[in-house]
Amino acid sequence: MQLDQLKSLVGSVNSRRILDLFGADSNRAQGFSASTGDLLFDYSKTQIDDDIRAALIRLCDKVNLSDRRAAMFAGDKINETEGRAVLHTALRNLDGGPVEVDGQDVMPDVLDTLQRMRVFAEEVRGGTITGTGGSFTDVVNIGIGGSDLGPVMATHALAPYHDGPRLHYVSNVDGAQIADTLRPLDPTRTLVIVASKTFTTIETMTNARTARAWMIDGGGDPAQQFAAVSSAVDKTQAFGIPEARVFGFADWVGGRYSVWGPVGLPVMIAVGSNAFDAFLRGGQAMDLHFQSAEWIENMPVMLALVGVWHRQVIGHTSRAVLPYDQRLVRLPAYFQQLEMESNGKSVAMDGSALTMPSGPVVWGEPGTNGQHAFYQLIHQGTDVIPCEFMVAANGHEPELVHHHHLLLANCLAQSEALMQGRSLDEARARMAEQGLTGAELERQARHRVFSGDRPSTTLIYPQLTPYVLGQIIALYEHRVFVEGVLLGINSFDQWGVELGKELATSLGPIVEGEVSAKGKDGSTAALVGYALRHRD
Ligand code: F6P
Repeated sequence: MQLDQLKSLVGSVNSRRILDLFGADSNRAQGFSASTGDLLFDYSKTQIDDDIRAALIRLCDKVNLSDRRAAMFAGDKINETEGRAVLHTALRNLDGGPVEVDGQDVMPDVLDTLQRMRVFAEEVRGGTITGTGGSFTDVVNIGIGGSDLGPVMATHALAPYHDGPRLHYVSNVDGAQIADTLRPLDPTRTLVIVASKTFTTIETMTNARTARAWMIDGGGDPAQQFAAVSSAVDKTQAFGIPEARVFGFADWVGGRYSVWGPVGLPVMIAVGSNAFDAFLRGGQAMDLHFQSAEWIENMPVMLALVGVWHRQVIGHTSRAVLPYDQRLVRLPAYFQQLEMESNGKSVAMDGSALTMPSGPVVWGEPGTNGQHAFYQLIHQGTDVIPCEFMVAANGHEPELVHHHHLLLANCLAQSEALMQGRSLDEARARMAEQGLTGAELERQARHRVFSGDRPSTTLIYPQLTPYVLGQIIALYEHRVFVEGVLLGINSFDQWGVELGKELATSLGPIVEGEVSAKGKDGSTAALVGYALRHRD
């Protein structure tokens, strides 16, 4: 990606304020936003103007974005380091045509598995299939990373639609989590879903064995009460899960893109197959938009280009995701994996070193909570942090509509405050109104200055329905794809997680006290020594 032209435009930005752009163009809000019909993405509160946008859009053509997009949807093996296609879009291709990988249409298998999931989910919900003690009251999903974060996020998001059994998620190998989760549950009325693409992940397999022992001890029957979600179907059978309870998916579904398929099974059990279908249809609607809209109107493309402007051109190291929607409480964590595992790379597809910054640090927390915690730094810290606000026009609590109005007002107030700021003169005037004068007025006023001119975008949607959630998740998936293409990296592998896994395996026997820590660095050996000396 050639950024020279864009970097030359940064100078023009330094001599003006975002607010000035609104003064110069009364239609700026309309001109610098993209819509899908029901979602509106407003990026007008950034420094992007016509020239910058045109230069950003030219990047898309320079990297042949439309060919790369077509290659992804067509099932080409664009995940070159793993030799795999990238086809999570096929999982939501409900009324689309065939999708071929190696000359084979994958859609019959996708739709067949989806139908099996629907039947299973409805049987669990309706009590047609049960545990040894009766209908299932609770479902425990055991998985980590992409086999956890997507369903956890969606389960929180779709709480108003949750009418199935209670759901619990266990991901951490820390026994505290599984102990706390299982303690109140009835082992004869609990369904355990073991979700692991590879079915080898140490955390998941350890937790699965613990849950199986707990169930047997408590009079449950794992043959009746365990299900598996994986692309390694042979391993699920070796674990003892009957074939009828195994929901497989292909290796062309990346873990962090897998919530649309069998990994979404717990969500389907919670909200029902019709609501889950609506989620898939939302994702599919965003796919169609991404494939057909002009770059300037294309929401994932413009979201990505705003990201490139802030990260690769200006150099801001992080971006905050700030949903004003409490039910999106796990969305920042989900986006952390989606964005940072995908685009946190320093090697280009051809093996050469990346010549520009990789993807940014992504972090966040729902508003208004974050306002009373870290927004201080966003408003007055020395680093500029581009903020991505999200908010619904409507909540789900008509009896509490005044809460929603306050939520919306706060969301809009934050982006306004970030852009407008407060000058020293304005701060002085306020201090004077409060009766301060002289040196004390001056000292106090300086603490009350907001530089302003801090960029943010806002995604606003009618209501957090399954369909809208599907659109939002697919929007960010495609944003990550576009940013990856612009960077020239492979967004679909994750070699960076391997070294830690290998070292953990070699440290296992050392921590058990079976093997000496000789050969380990001094710090690691000393920490192991402390743990062994203090072991109960
Ligand atoms: O360690 C990273 C990772 O491979 C993620 O990419 C993946 O989502 C997670 O582990 C879990 O993997 P699996 O679904 O194979 O258990």
